[in-house]
Amino acid sequence: MLSVAVVGAGGFGGALCAGIVHGHPSLELTAVTARSDAGRRHDEVYPRYAVPLTLEEPDADRIAERADAALVAYPHRAAAQAVRDLRERGLKVVDLSADFRLSQEAYERWYQPHEAPELLGEAVYGLPELGHREEIRGAELVAGPGCNSTAALLALWPLRDIARDAVVDIKTGVSGAGREATSDTHFVSVADNVNPYKTEGHRHVAELQQELPDGIRLSFVPHLLPIDQGLMASCYVTADGEPSREDVQALFEDAYRDEHFVDVIADPPRTGDVRATNRARVHATLDEGGRVLAFAAIDNLWKGAAGQAVQDLNLMLGLPEQEGLE
Ligand SMILES: NC(=O)c1ccc[n+]([C@@H]2O[C@H](COP(=O)([O-])OP(=O)(O)OC[C@H]3O[C@@H](n4cnc5c(N)ncnc54)[C@H](OP(=O)(O)O)[C@@H]3O)[C@@H](O)[C@H]2O)c1
Repeated sequence: MLSVAVVGAGGFGGALCAGIVHGHPSLELTAVTARSDAGRRHDEVYPRYAVPLTLEEPDADRIAERADAALVAYPHRAAAQAVRDLRERGLKVVDLSADFRLSQEAYERWYQPHEAPELLGEAVYGLPELGHREEIRGAELVAGPGCNSTAALLALWPLRDIARDAVVDIKTGVSGAGREATSDTHFVSVADNVNPYKTEGHRHVAELQQELPDGIRLSFVPHLLPIDQGLMASCYVTADGEPSREDVQALFEDAYRDEHFVDVIADPPRTGDVRATNRARVHATLDEGGRVLAFAAIDNLWKGAAGQAVQDLNLMLGLPEQEGLE
């Protein structure tokens, strides 16, 4: 058994990481950390994940004594420091935050000065389905992609050679914003409501610019919906070469034929059908005007965060990619 720690296991993403690792047949969950809930049992804070461990204050030395690898589920910036402490002690790390997804230049444009730029060279972008699988297998540090970016990229990846212009319309559940409620994510703000946000530039567009070929004009418009878990990327794409509906569908079949976690389906997907799974359901078609419509539905906490992090960890540790995720 390989031993794994989850750092930030009191937050939404980290709590699910702990739940998945605890149920994993080849991994042993040896430490779960939190500051505000330190001293409480994880299964008291999150009964549904049934993790019978006590949350402890984060301490890199104590974690390194007990773990070969760690999943770090901190907000960006705080994550960089925690990842550095764990990498200095030789642990393999999957970081769920934005801190290691981008080049230093792109990161500092969208976020803030980087806290651990010396680690960027070894970090691999953790979306296996986008051609990163072999790099992830050899990596010591993997950056879990953003939830919006995961869905948008899975919808756009098969179209990358023909897309000229794409409007990415994201609809996301409130758990994507983390455990702490704000005035924007409070029940009263979200219930019976649809809230577009960050319409003039969401940070996740930087991941699309990085992963897709240059020259695709991108608009990225997220909407917060009154659902707790679930995320839909609806992409409206102007394509070169007037492809037929069959051409477009063939691109999706070719891209994902061998992908265990991506289902290419004949009708538009629904978020409820991927809830609490590591699956993405994708669909593409043409509208009457010849525009390509591409959809991807994921669970933001699973394929958009914790599930994908364990998928990456499986690859890094030489385990079957889907182990512990079914
Ligand atoms: N939620 C999603 O759908 C999703 C999807 C993809 C990626 N992510 C990324 O995954 C990471 C974790 O997200 P989450 O949704 O799990 O967030 P969360 O629910 O807010 O949890 C983050 C945890 O980090 C701990 N923490 C440590 N240092 C902190 C600091 N300086 N400031 C605030 N909190 C600190 C907090 O617990 P203590 O205070 O007890 O230590 C908190 O519980 C984030 O980087 C997020 O962007 C989230």
